Amino acid sequence: MSSNSDRQLDVVILAAGLGTRMKSAKAKVLHELGGLPLIGHVCRTARLLNPAKIHVVVGHQSDEVAAAVTSAIGAEGVTFPKQERQLGTGDAVMAVRSSLDASNSTALILSGDVPLIEVDTLRTLIEEHLRTGSAGTILSVRLDNPTGYGRIIRDSEGRFLRIVEHKDATSEQREISEINSGIYCFDTSKLFSALEHIEPKNQQGEYYLTDVAEILRNRGETISVYLHGDSREVSGINTRAELAEFENVMRSRTIQRLMLESGVTFIDPSHSYVDVDVSVGKDSLIHPDVHLEGKTTVGENCEIRSGSRVTNSKIGDKVTLKDHCVIVDSEVEANCSIGPFAHLRMNSRIEQGAAVGNFVEIKKSTLGRGSKSMHLTYLGDATIGEQTNIGAGTITCNYDGKNKHPTVIEDHVKIGSDTMLVAPVKVGGGSVTAAGSVVTKDVPPDSLVAGVPAVVKKHLAERKEDAKG
Ligand code: UD1
Ligand code: CA
Repeated sequence: MSSNSDRQLDVVILAAGLGTRMKSAKAKVLHELGGLPLIGHVCRTARLLNPAKIHVVVGHQSDEVAAAVTSAIGAEGVTFPKQERQLGTGDAVMAVRSSLDASNSTALILSGDVPLIEVDTLRTLIEEHLRTGSAGTILSVRLDNPTGYGRIIRDSEGRFLRIVEHKDATSEQREISEINSGIYCFDTSKLFSALEHIEPKNQQGEYYLTDVAEILRNRGETISVYLHGDSREVSGINTRAELAEFENVMRSRTIQRLMLESGVTFIDPSHSYVDVDVSVGKDSLIHPDVHLEGKTTVGENCEIRSGSRVTNSKIGDKVTLKDHCVIVDSEVEANCSIGPFAHLRMNSRIEQGAAVGNFVEIKKSTLGRGSKSMHLTYLGDATIGEQTNIGAGTITCNYDGKNKHPTVIEDHVKIGSDTMLVAPVKVGGGSVTAAGSVVTKDVPPDSLVAGVPAVVKKHLAERKEDAKG
């Protein structure tokens, strides 16, 4: 391998097709598995090989596919050659030609729709390819049901002859269980010189990448086949049914990792839904039917009860999310208790030790340290200080039909039940609103207001140190 080790590795990922069997308006490689598009999974695995470049061949929805790649692995060392029309896998690889220097390169070809491929398998394939000095090395597997795949045809001594696509195969060839995974290594310059000679003379009228193997073999070059043991790992996703099946595989991988490496307890792993980029801290307890999505992080010693969904949010240590909470793009600091049936969204922040209770919606708002909003409340565009209590049925009337306005509630305030805060409005520190107040004007600090509209009834001598609901 030493003579080859100075060769550069170019990874080519085919991702131009629409994937008609998905019956979707969305390109197949954009469908998600564990919250990450299929193409993102393949690119992340490719990145682990430290290649010189990753070339993602795009066609259908090329901008969206490129954006998905960039969001998964960044833009450095990635090219997006475009295949204008999807004339076949051979034509797709041709699109890469102008973006690489083939002279001293090994090409690893992957499909954008094979998301479970493991980096160790690819490493072994590349090593085998370089060790045997082959012009091309094909990763094959045996399948119980090889229908639809290209078959590996060998001679009577078991040497590789060619790949025949299912649609072009004779009924005898269709009996062969060894299939082409669509993952290969090639000497890049030999690959391109063979690609010039492929023709779309087949059932599908396409330029088949697979034909280069036979062309090279006819030139006296060595084509190796590396038979891999795990067929699921190299299986592509072609249908929604397969997508769902793989989702289960991906999900159990993620949950296993969190249990084994992070020390998280899942009461029922088969009914827990955790995306691949989620992290959860030690001794946290996750009840059944919890969804942790996107780039969510959960701290240590948390408890998340059934039916809750947390998306792109940060949950601190020792937080309890009671049943059926929805938390999106928000942050909950340490020692908070949320729910049941609470909804936090749009950059809301619940500061240390605060509590949010039943049927409370919080949008684009901050609830300060130790403050409480326990029942039937809407807080939108609000900034709420420390040790403040928001009574049952409070509403920030933040929308005047045209614009949104802010509400400020300072520290140590007691908002009485059924208070309407007509924004923009501010309630000064230490103040109290009586039940049923409609606050239309700023409330000075340390005063009691009541009525519709609310007016100052008296000034409060001293501040209450605790705020109980
Ligand atoms: C291909 C192989 C087949 C193999 C199978 C493994 C060929 C001719 N056949 O068949 O031997 O068993 O993969 O899954 O290569 N693509 C493009 N541009 C195109 C056509 C396809 O970028 O013009 C991309 C697709 O988006 C996809 C990948 O190439 O990511 C594979 O294409 P697909 O049409 O799924 O090939 P198969 O028919 O499955
Ligand atoms: Ca396929």
